[in-house]
Amino acid sequence: MKIIKEIDQYILDQNICLIPTMGALHEGHLSLIEEGKKLGFSVMVSIFVNEIQFNNKEDFNNYPKRIEEDIKILEKLDIDYLFIPENNYIYPEGGFDKIDSGIIGKKFEGSSRPGHFDGVLTVVNRLFELIKPKFAIFGKKDAQQLFLIKQMVKKQNYKIKIIEGLTVRDNFGLALSSRNLLLTKEGKKKANFLYEALNVTKIEFSKTKNLMAFDKFYSTYLKHEIKIDYLEILDLETFSKPTDKTQTYIIVIAAYVENIRLIDNIEFRLENI
Ligand code: PAJ
Repeated sequence: MKIIKEIDQYILDQNICLIPTMGALHEGHLSLIEEGKKLGFSVMVSIFVNEIQFNNKEDFNNYPKRIEEDIKILEKLDIDYLFIPENNYIYPEGGFDKIDSGIIGKKFEGSSRPGHFDGVLTVVNRLFELIKPKFAIFGKKDAQQLFLIKQMVKKQNYKIKIIEGLTVRDNFGLALSSRNLLLTKEGKKKANFLYEALNVTKIEFSKTKNLMAFDKFYSTYLKHEIKIDYLEILDLETFSKPTDKTQTYIIVIAAYVENIRLIDNIEFRLENI
């Protein structure tokens, strides 16, 4: 594995499969890397804690940073490149394109974290410009992020195939996240309510077809356990309210546990329940 800080022509001449991350690597990241290795092209993982996607300085400062551990993990995986750019390489003083995440980027995560998705799309766009990968892999765990990246790739006409990685969970269903490192043992138990809320909502919705299917569950005991920011049933294709034409639904949730913001989602089709 070669650790690089900049991209040179030798790299540009290769077919790269890029897996962007912010480090503090866990099994979820590793599953994306395994997907990448299956393609048979050069695999590049990037680690860059992108400050502009944090709408709050404290959140950025608290975000786990474990570069030494990450390097050790990646060395064992036999990837080709680990890209660890400096801030001024990604964001040169001479300027760079700032990407607006549009209407959907201002909803859900974007509503609670103003500017978050503009920051995500801006860095992903920079990585795409610099590396010119043929493939890039993102996790379904961050469903709204994935939706917006696919929308950007279409808009910018990038010839990049976006591969979607399944969400990796622990034995209790909690989606793995670098932020889980910030939870106590007790907090981790409470965090399991996110996945439970998604599953209960899915079952209720499939019975009632009522978009407020989560209401009873929510008002009875859920709110005593976790502080929900949003819980919404959406159309996966549009990331908006479902219609008669909706085929695949997605339920998205964001909640605070011990003041740590966690997100999760599940996708489903009614005929499969
Ligand atoms: P980060 O949170 O480090 O996640 C990097 C990639 O891992 C994302 O594509 C994310 O969806 C995926 N991922 C996270 N948890 C996962 C899980 N439990 N199972 C499967 N995949 C998982 O997402 C970001 O970084 C940043 O916003 C980034 C895209 C790198 C831009 O800065």
